[in-house]
Amino acid sequence: MIIPVKWSDEGVLMLDQRLLPTEEKWLTLRSFTEVADGIRDMVVRGAPAIGVSAAYGIALGAKNFVGTNIADLEDELDYVCEVIGKTRPTAVNLFWAIERMKRTFQKAKLEGKSVSEIKQILIEDAKAIHEEDIESQRLIAKFGGELIENDSTVLTHCNAGALATGGVWGTALGVIRGAVDQGKTVSVIADETRPYLQGARLTAWELLQDDIPVTLITDSMSGHMMQKGKVHAVVVGSDRIAANGDVANKIGTYMVAVLAKQHKVPFYVAAPLSTVDLNCPTGEEIPIEERNIREITHVQHIQLAPEGVSVNNYAFDVTPNEFVTAIITEKGVARKPFTESLRKMFEE
Ligand code: MRU
Repeated sequence: MIIPVKWSDEGVLMLDQRLLPTEEKWLTLRSFTEVADGIRDMVVRGAPAIGVSAAYGIALGAKNFVGTNIADLEDELDYVCEVIGKTRPTAVNLFWAIERMKRTFQKAKLEGKSVSEIKQILIEDAKAIHEEDIESQRLIAKFGGELIENDSTVLTHCNAGALATGGVWGTALGVIRGAVDQGKTVSVIADETRPYLQGARLTAWELLQDDIPVTLITDSMSGHMMQKGKVHAVVVGSDRIAANGDVANKIGTYMVAVLAKQHKVPFYVAAPLSTVDLNCPTGEEIPIEERNIREITHVQHIQLAPEGVSVNNYAFDVTPNEFVTAIITEKGVARKPFTESLRKMFEE
């Protein structure tokens, strides 16, 4: 069972995903700045895992605060949230977790709690966010698993597994685990996911651990595999879903979605409601992270491209809702029109 981030008395523990699959090393992060660096530098990655880590980072910032004055603690927490909020712009789970922790602080303050009581309340709420995330993935696995047919091959892009969430299930890989749990035979095609290779390094590693058959392909092979009838469904995760069902996910997802439509392969998106941003009317408003160009020009220390070449390194793209067959959440399966089906899930 993979749980990539944990709370401990010493600080926040993170499995260093930069070293997988060749090394399993845990880091102990003892300050909120170390947690922020861990999110920014991809020690932990994946939208729900980033949200859980942000909550733990805020709890750690509160725990390390020295003093008894509530106003000073509030100032410190504002600063902690600002630093953590600047780590990665696309995954809305980060901002969702920050807002929830801020609300928890305000409620405790209004109730007249002391600084030491508030510290404990924030730690407990971060743990609750983590537990709720795992429970959401369990339900996504159940609802999504029902959509996958027996004896099918599912293509996935990036890593939307236990490593990318609070743990255990994952979103896209949760759907596959759910189908397997329901007694179905499922095999997976994993896109390697250039440039950061989350598919090759992480998805392949996770699925091998669970004995789920997985075949690794380069990103450019997915069209060929669909053309040959080798893909029965595509399941991906998401970093932010706009109110109209446009989906931001790892760069290359849009390409896979267009290919899936061309080949009449269902294209499913699996994500908790903490990934749905009703404040973003469409995908146009979703900020797209651009990362260091070295991720493209180099593989570790090996230089691939000539020095001085111009490079774009967009980490995410937006798949318009017309390419999405259904969005699987912990509340069930949302279908078109997504504006209504997603809103209803929030109202329930
Ligand atoms: O840059 P990353 O590795 O954080 O990107 C991760 C993804 O794009 C995932 O597909 C997404 O966050 C969903 S994770 C359940």
